[in-house]
Parts: sequence; structure tokens; C-alpha cells
Amino acid sequence: MLKAVEIKPDVFWVGGIDWNERNFHGYTTERGSTYNAYLILDEQITLIDTCKRPFTDELIDRISDIVDPASIAYVVSNHVEMDHSGGLPALAAIAPDATIVTGEPKGVRGLCAHYGDGLNLMGVKTGDTLNIGKRTLTFVQTPMVHWPDSMVTYDEYDKILFSNDSFGQHYASSKRFDDEVGLPEVLVQAQKYYANIVMPYGKNVEAALKALAAYHFDMIAPAHGIIWRTHVPEILDCYRQWSSGEPEEYALVVYDSMWHTTEAMAVEITEAFMEMGIPARLLDLKVNHISDIMAEVLCARYIAVGSPTLNKTMMPTVAAFLCYMRGLAPAGRVGIPFGSYGWAPMGPNEVYQQLESCKFTLPEAPFTHQWVEDEEGLTRLHDEVIQFVSLFHAKA
Ligand code: FEO
Repeated sequence: MLKAVEIKPDVFWVGGIDWNERNFHGYTTERGSTYNAYLILDEQITLIDTCKRPFTDELIDRISDIVDPASIAYVVSNHVEMDHSGGLPALAAIAPDATIVTGEPKGVRGLCAHYGDGLNLMGVKTGDTLNIGKRTLTFVQTPMVHWPDSMVTYDEYDKILFSNDSFGQHYASSKRFDDEVGLPEVLVQAQKYYANIVMPYGKNVEAALKALAAYHFDMIAPAHGIIWRTHVPEILDCYRQWSSGEPEEYALVVYDSMWHTTEAMAVEITEAFMEMGIPARLLDLKVNHISDIMAEVLCARYIAVGSPTLNKTMMPTVAAFLCYMRGLAPAGRVGIPFGSYGWAPMGPNEVYQQLESCKFTLPEAPFTHQWVEDEEGLTRLHDEVIQFVSLFHAKA
């Protein structure tokens, strides 16, 4: 069995590596994930978070390799969601005298709702501290990053921020640290994670970053993925940028097509952006997963979405993408609805309505084309898209 990994003297990673996780609530996790838990050896032995239930035996084995789990005095539950609290009932059974520390009131309520009233809970709020020997842990509530109960734990002695979901990535690796994996690779997964899990809560992230500015740490130990010890400033900068909601001059052209007319329009729109000097990416929904596209949406100011008309509506792939994107609530975007039709432009009209409900800035009507594409129609589309985009690009 993989042994615990000492991340600082007397602080151990004891989590689980989920190599084969491929779908996390519809978000494709092509690199798997981890459920990180951390054991602190001090006068009062303390466990930070647990793991998803199927990994509980691993967690307990790793702890047992270092100490008797029955000797654990505190289990800090930074977040109720079951990928972090699934091991709590087993831990509570092995260490019946352990106190479970969680956010007050929503962590307390959430754990009771999931596991009953039998747990030995202690609620904490922002600024509350817990002395465990030579270390004092400080708790900072970070509501909606990712659930209302979420909090982080600061260990001043070790200069570690145990950040739970914040700064995490769904990334399984034989390595534990950012500098062992390489920043570009980790950032790809951190960006996808932020876009698909945290993006709707940018204001909460900004508030959390502001609260955390009062604490000095040189290591961020999240509950998913690798531990930040070398690139802490870089991931903090990324979170500042992503939470600002301010997109870049970057365009996405997302579409599905039946007989290639909408596809021809998508290519033409992409080339219009390229002609304007705006980096652009063409994304066919048949071969690009919506959770990968959201990682791009996080940074893109211009989002063109196209569908032909199928059964009096847009294509189901396009509907699924728009539904998912609306839930993740990117703000301040310019939308470009487009698509083709035979006898009624119901597909592109529905795309328009959906982008309107995303509160995107839109042209007066969708860009449409009847029947098959022709050179004249594509040239007109090209010019009209440049004319529309120029209204915003000129000011950027
Ligand atoms: Fe990783 Fe919100 O749980």
C-alpha cells in the first residue's frame, strides 16, 4: 500500500488517489482525482478532512501506519460534501472520543443531515482557533466555495493553508507536489476545475481571497489534486483573475451541425475573428465535451453558439451546452447566436433566447442561413460578424 507522504515535518498526506474517476457530476475528469486528507502529529493528533467513502479503508490504513487512529483527538471537516466527509462515520467509530470540527451553523447542519445526530461535533466560525499543542489552527469560512458550509483551515506553525475544494484540481498523480508535475499541466486542470465548479461564485472567491490575505502561508494543501508549494503565487494570481470575471479578447465558436451549413457558418465566424486578430477556437459539440469547453469559456469574451433547426428546436447537444453554461453563469460576455434552417429558423432563435437568458450582450437577431451555404451568404455573415464584434473589440 502507498505509504503516507510527509509534506512538512509531522504533517502527512493520507488521502486516496482515484485513478479511474472519469465523470464528476457530468464534468469529465480525464486525469482522475484525489481526495486529500492530512494528518497532523501534535499533542492532539488532528486529521484534516476525510475522503470519499470507497477510499476510507485506504485512509485508515495510511493513518494506522503512523499512529493508532483511535488516538485522533480532532477531525476537521472543512466541507460536508461526501467526497470529503464520506470517511467520517468510520473514523468516528474508530476514534469515538474524537471531536469533529466543522463550520457553524451550516457544516454542523450538513453533517447531521448526512450522518445523523450521533457525531461529536464542534461548530466554529471565521477567526475561531483550536490549539492542538505547539500548533494553533485558525478557521476561515468560505461560503459557496464550494458549498454554503465550506471553510479552510490555517496552520500558522507550518504555514500551510488546508484549502479543501479551493485551489484544487481533479488530477490523479503518483506525485504530490506542483513542482514534481509541472505548472502548465497542473494549471490546465486547476482552470478546468475552477470553471466547472467554482465559476458561479466569483464574488465569494474574491471575499475568500480578501479574508486569506491576512494569513501568511507558503503551502496550499487542497482536498483534490496536487499540493502547491512552489507555485503558490501563481495559483493565487489565477484565482484573482478568474474570480474577477474579466474575460480576455478570445473567441469560442461552439456548434453542432447536421448537413454542414451551420458548420460552414462556424468556420466563417472563426475566420472573421482571426481576421480581426482575435484568437479563436472552433469547437464541434460532437467531439468536445461541455466541461472542456467551459474551461475555455472562463477566459473568452466572445462566445458564438450555433445550431441548425431540428424538430422545431435546436439540437440536443447545443441545448445541453447552453443549459450547462447558464448554470455556471459566466458574466460580461458577448454572444453570437447563429445557425441554419430549412423552413423556419427555430434552432438559431432558441440559441438566441438561451444566450439572452445567460445575460450575454447580443446582436439584434441571430445570424441565420436558409438551406445550404453559398459564397455570398458566407461573405455576408463574415462581414456582419466583424461589424458586430468591432463594437466591443475597439473598446477592449
Ligand atoms: Fe470536493 Fe465540494 O467537494
